[in-house]
Amino acid sequence: MSEAAKLSVNGKEIELPILVGTENEVGLDISKLRASTGCITLDEGYVNTGSTASAITFLDGEEGVLRYRGYPIEQLAEHADFIEIAHLLMHGELPTQTQLTEMQSTMRFERTIPPAIVKLIASFPQQAHPMAIVMAAVAGLSAHHLERIDPADPKQVAEASARLLAEMPTIAAYAYRRTTGQDFVEPTKDLDYCRNFLHMMFSQPDKPLEIADELAEALDMLLIVHADHEQNCSTSTVRMVGSSDANLYASISAGVAALWGPLHGGANEACVNMLEMIHADGGDVAKYVEMARKKENNFRLMGFGHRVYKSYDPRAKIVEAACKKVLAKLKIEDPIFPIAQELERVAVTDQYFIDRNLYPNVDFYSGVLYRAMGIPSNMFTVLFAMGRLPGWLAHWIEMRTSPEKRICRPRQIYTGETERNFVPIEKRS
Ligand code: CMC
Repeated sequence: MSEAAKLSVNGKEIELPILVGTENEVGLDISKLRASTGCITLDEGYVNTGSTASAITFLDGEEGVLRYRGYPIEQLAEHADFIEIAHLLMHGELPTQTQLTEMQSTMRFERTIPPAIVKLIASFPQQAHPMAIVMAAVAGLSAHHLERIDPADPKQVAEASARLLAEMPTIAAYAYRRTTGQDFVEPTKDLDYCRNFLHMMFSQPDKPLEIADELAEALDMLLIVHADHEQNCSTSTVRMVGSSDANLYASISAGVAALWGPLHGGANEACVNMLEMIHADGGDVAKYVEMARKKENNFRLMGFGHRVYKSYDPRAKIVEAACKKVLAKLKIEDPIFPIAQELERVAVTDQYFIDRNLYPNVDFYSGVLYRAMGIPSNMFTVLFAMGRLPGWLAHWIEMRTSPEKRICRPRQIYTGETERNFVPIEKRS
């Protein structure tokens, strides 16, 4: 491949350096474009825009490949646990036994959240969406961990990120207890990351929770498959907010906000709501595929389609296989699982979906497992946030430590009025 692309604009020819990543993906470096031509690029939704170079996650949407730091997601989901994955994403390598023991110890001993944040969560109305509570609680930590908010101090950043990982399940479980009107259950250091989370969610004072191994393992796997996905909407938000030198908690809280939307992390909740609707409507999946085809209906198959994957999302395959295994093992019959499978079968053979390369994504089956754990649908996106946290942290740290770091500040093509004179109020029509 030649070393530069040529661009001719306004009668002037310039060369744009060609960058090639380690997996041979190719990008044009346009960083000197405006200075040399006066032009900027326009790319609504950043469909063609690389916002950064990153060494964390590789995604090949055509081939359905996802790797964290070079390791295929299938291997990680089968052999690793979430804490190892967090270490891998944030530090670049799988932990040694000593590193893992140290990290597990932080995860066990730093689970308690500041009393003022407990009060903040308790002050929310019961009707609040748990994502609103999580967003506020994470932002609130920046007021209560003043000793950890300097983004320029690597020691503070390391402490803030490790401890936020430990605190997040507590915030998430408390958000659930608040929105279900139940007293909080304090974290225990006697249980691992996922079991402690389920304990805080579901234990009752007179009845400690018995947690089936299959469910704790399924939860760990779900956190792993959600842990990173390169420059998605929430991760890009975290990087963008952090680029202004905002502190880590403020940046992560912004990521939670971006994740909440139904086109991003909110799709898992919307997907289960859709599957329940299809079930209540007699299970006629073809009717809903037909509805999704017609634009005037303003209806999309939730959990279907992806900006980057133009083939099957590898995470959806892993999650579907786990659904089959866990439901069979625990003898759970959930009517929405066969509906989801049938919906997939009908949609992927439908010409509309074939033409647009629309396949199930990670959100399509995850709700089936969350439901098996007894987690209500308004908590699904919170679980996504818990899983995505190490990815957000890894990207924030990568952005902060990059020698190329600059404030993210896109430009625009202005399409409004040209200059005009102020009109006094009595003369306005
Ligand atoms: N159902 C029906 N039609 C769809 C769907 C869908 N789920 N997704 C895309 N399309 C159509 C869309 O109408 C458009 O058709 P046309 O070319 O005729 O106008 C075409 O496919 C391309 O769609 P797009 O909206 O331009 O694609 P995008 O890359 O901007 O959006 C997406 C990607 C994920 C937002 C979109 O596929 C979608 O809305 N899916 C449903 C929500 C969802 O499941 N989101 C979770 C994404 S995975 C987890 C995560 O990373 O957050």
